[in-house]
Amino acid sequence: MRVQAASSKNSVPRDPKVPVHVAIIMDGNGRWAEKRGLPRIAGHKVGVDCIQGVLEALSAKGVMFVTLYAFSTENWNRPATEVQGILEILYDALQHQTQTLHDNNVRIVHIGKVDRLSSQLMEAVTHAQELTKDNTGITLNVAFDYGGRDEILEAVRRIIHDGVSIEEVDEDLFNSYLFTAHSPDPDLIIRTGGEMRISNFLLWQSAYSEYYHTSTLWPDLDAAELEQVLEAFGNRERRFGGIKPGA
Ligand code: IPE
Ligand code: IPE
Ligand code: MG
Repeated sequence: MRVQAASSKNSVPRDPKVPVHVAIIMDGNGRWAEKRGLPRIAGHKVGVDCIQGVLEALSAKGVMFVTLYAFSTENWNRPATEVQGILEILYDALQHQTQTLHDNNVRIVHIGKVDRLSSQLMEAVTHAQELTKDNTGITLNVAFDYGGRDEILEAVRRIIHDGVSIEEVDEDLFNSYLFTAHSPDPDLIIRTGGEMRISNFLLWQSAYSEYYHTSTLWPDLDAAELEQVLEAFGNRERRFGGIKPGA
């Protein structure tokens, strides 16, 4: 099945200093807990509780799409107890936060693989998506069992399955087969936790994203720092391969 790709055409002119789409690699939960002598899972719990505040801060600034990297296709390599704990935390969050997000007009979309998640978790995901699908506020993409390489391979498989002809394959068509077909490319990717790598996140979509990294651990990221991040974004000069305007 092909999804209509998000397009910036015909949209209301926006302030280019405000990113339309912010994607976040929420890293550092484990270290946050370890620093406090707590089990790593306690960091994941606090990390999920921080999401609402960050969404509110971004929404207040006019951001329309937020993608959160919550669990990668490689995170299954962690000890089974940690994986199980993260799955339970996600399930709990869906149970307890979906209604509030819905009340705030948030559209929730899962991006990632679905075949390795339990039927109970998938039911909660499907419920959240169905309930919020017509909401017109911020779109929250939850990247769970998400990997950029997996997404690209899955798109290729589906393009072949649909019998698309070689002539039809272009960037717009490819976009329309990605999990993020409903979202524009991220303008800004933020990574907390100090690492300077992409860790298989939005490999196709990040071609011209501005990248910001901070050593702040995810549970410690507050509204004041987010403000600084958005200010830094506003001062970036995006050239998309061209040259400085007026040069
Ligand atoms: C990010 O925090 C959350 C997930 C990957 C699930 P980490 O658990 O990777 O935290 P650190 O990097 O070990 O501190
Ligand atoms: C990236 O963090 C994935 C998520 C935040 C979900 P990781 O902690 O898994 O990344 P690496 O292993 O340090 O690259
Ligand atoms: Mg990490």
